Amino acid sequence: MTSRAHWGSRIGFVLATAGSAIGLGNIWRFPYLAGQNGGCAFLILYLCCVFGLGYFMLLGKLAFGRTAKTNIMDGFKAIDVKLKKQHSPLWGYLGGLMAILNGVIISGVYVIVIGWTFLYTIESGLSLFGAHNPVDAQSGFQHLTHAFQEQLLWGCLCILVTAIVISKGVKKGIERVCLWLMPLLFGLLILMLCRILLLPGAEKGISFFLSPDWSAIGFSEEGLDFNLFSKVLLTAIGQSFYSLSLGMGVMFTYGSYLANTDNLKRDAAWIVGLDLMVSLLAGFIVLPAVFAFGLEPTAGAGLTFITLPYVFANMWGGAFWAFLFYLLLFIAALTSLISIYEPLTSLFMDKLKLTRRKATLLTSGLNLISFSVTLASLTGNLPIHLFSRNLFDAFDWITGSFSLSFTMIICCLYMGWIGFVPIWHNLQTTSPSGHIFRNYLRTSLRLTAPIVLTALIIMSLF
Ligand code: PFF
Repeated sequence: MTSRAHWGSRIGFVLATAGSAIGLGNIWRFPYLAGQNGGCAFLILYLCCVFGLGYFMLLGKLAFGRTAKTNIMDGFKAIDVKLKKQHSPLWGYLGGLMAILNGVIISGVYVIVIGWTFLYTIESGLSLFGAHNPVDAQSGFQHLTHAFQEQLLWGCLCILVTAIVISKGVKKGIERVCLWLMPLLFGLLILMLCRILLLPGAEKGISFFLSPDWSAIGFSEEGLDFNLFSKVLLTAIGQSFYSLSLGMGVMFTYGSYLANTDNLKRDAAWIVGLDLMVSLLAGFIVLPAVFAFGLEPTAGAGLTFITLPYVFANMWGGAFWAFLFYLLLFIAALTSLISIYEPLTSLFMDKLKLTRRKATLLTSGLNLISFSVTLASLTGNLPIHLFSRNLFDAFDWITGSFSLSFTMIICCLYMGWIGFVPIWHNLQTTSPSGHIFRNYLRTSLRLTAPIVLTALIIMSLF
């Protein structure tokens, strides 16, 4: 039996894990959620969610993985062995299988969007890109989302790149690529920020992002609109969990490659900090750019693929800046996709006794299937619908409203009620902490997170 892979360095682990966390969620989703939900007011709520709950969930998942040192499905059993007690295999099936299923489904949707960023990067690099009025920008994007072959090509290229990285292994593949790409991503973000802040009118976007509109989250002179507040709060919690890559076994698997000597509390703080920093920078880039051109920040998901192309086309040197922006979006998304592959690959290696290369082939094959079926449904080439939506929207809805939260609930309940002692013990070996921290972590896992996530599911379903 070959020994389990491990990270080559602490910085490699932190950057690879931050690479998973930093993705479309930070640069595409966060700015439009802030735009729709009162700018700074949303930001404040988001910060509370990240520090109050997100950090502890991330820490729990990393420590769970490091304690179990195996794939996500066997992780529950591995803790049982440490406890010298046998619990129902249902935990492993529900928590582990659901995480894997989420990975397969989300990777299909994720590849489609990365394909768009890939295409936008290349088109802007070749100066073929741009829409001089908002109508052209809208129809350009609509045309793309209906072009099956074009999207298939870009998506397949992304799958190929990801498969090559994963097949090289944890240290020589994932870690090495992230050690290069993450600093490049931070550099591009800073450069982009400097350019956008020089745009005349950008200050309106900055003040939107810095001055809270409390009424947008339910606080007004008439009192508290509880429905609105809970809706925005749950949106902020959902976003913080998604952004920290929780619910797909990624953090568990990355944690399982850690040595017991790494200080997890400190590393998790770095990962959360970097993830937050990128969301903030993305907000300071996208919102001022939108305001500088007198556009609406509430455009929703189209902000990146419809509003920004118009902004870049009308900006001096726009093709170059568009190239940098979509390149950084592409890098961020690629390092996240890489992380989505790893839990599956690790599972196939352990369970089917496959070499990493063969396991990668299987993972990318599954991704290719989920991607092409989702794409065919999106473009109308395959008349498959779920919940009266095409598969792209349906999968996005299912994972966003139900399956990610459900998987997290299972994992949190297990970590909090059953496996807490060995997990806490594992954490203590490198970062001793007091009773308050221990109780807070345990209560978050046992109660706070499951309750909040259940509320999230109920809200999204009804
Ligand atoms: N955190 C990624 C983002 O913000 O785009 C998305 C993601 C990646 C979610 C990996 C879950 C995951 F397992």
